[in-house]
Amino acid sequence: MPESSRLIVVTADITTLDVDAIVNAANSSLLGGGGVDGAIHRAAGPQLLAECRTLDGCETGDAKITGGYRLRARHVIHTVGPVWHGGDSGEPELLASCYRRSLELARRHGLKCIAFPSISTGVYGYPKAAAAKIAVRTVSDFLKSGDRPQSVTFCCFDHRAAELHRREIAVLGSAMGESQ
Ligand code: APR
Repeated sequence: MPESSRLIVVTADITTLDVDAIVNAANSSLLGGGGVDGAIHRAAGPQLLAECRTLDGCETGDAKITGGYRLRARHVIHTVGPVWHGGDSGEPELLASCYRRSLELARRHGLKCIAFPSISTGVYGYPKAAAAKIAVRTVSDFLKSGDRPQSVTFCCFDHRAAELHRREIAVLGSAMGESQ
């Protein structure tokens, strides 16, 4: 199955998705925050924070997994994206690492379907188009290396972000000659 067919784009609140894991755009403390981090903790309930307290934080570019608690998703994969400082401080590599490490955890736990928000593109200021390109290419490359996860959903919070991700998938598909 071509990788692009395993990539899904939706415009939704990620806390509503019925998937094996949703990815949280967290900060290094893993103790909650605003944006999607705040939404996930509110929806999951206090047990999520209680488990996060046992994890001793998370490095930028790394990822850690917890239960999903009151969420429909069975797990939350917490990753810490880079803060945008202009693009010459390793931000692209760190953002790619967030997607890769999250996917490695999903594979290690045998998860079939996971959903990502657009990591670092809110409070952390990463330009949305550049982030979408990194997200789609990193996920597509990872999916070439095995059949788990079976599907990855880019859960965008607005239609512009969704369009950016769809465009990157289309570019990928045509480059791979999959459009024929
Ligand atoms: N569902 C899906 N996407 C969402 C949701 C939601 N419920 N809420 C926000 N988003 C989108 C934003 O529109 C943005 O595109 O998630 C993307 C990431 O934005 P942030 O949540 O601000 O995350 P980030 O830019 O990675 O900054 C992380 O913000 O909330 C704090 O604790 C967090 O310090 C950390 C920082």
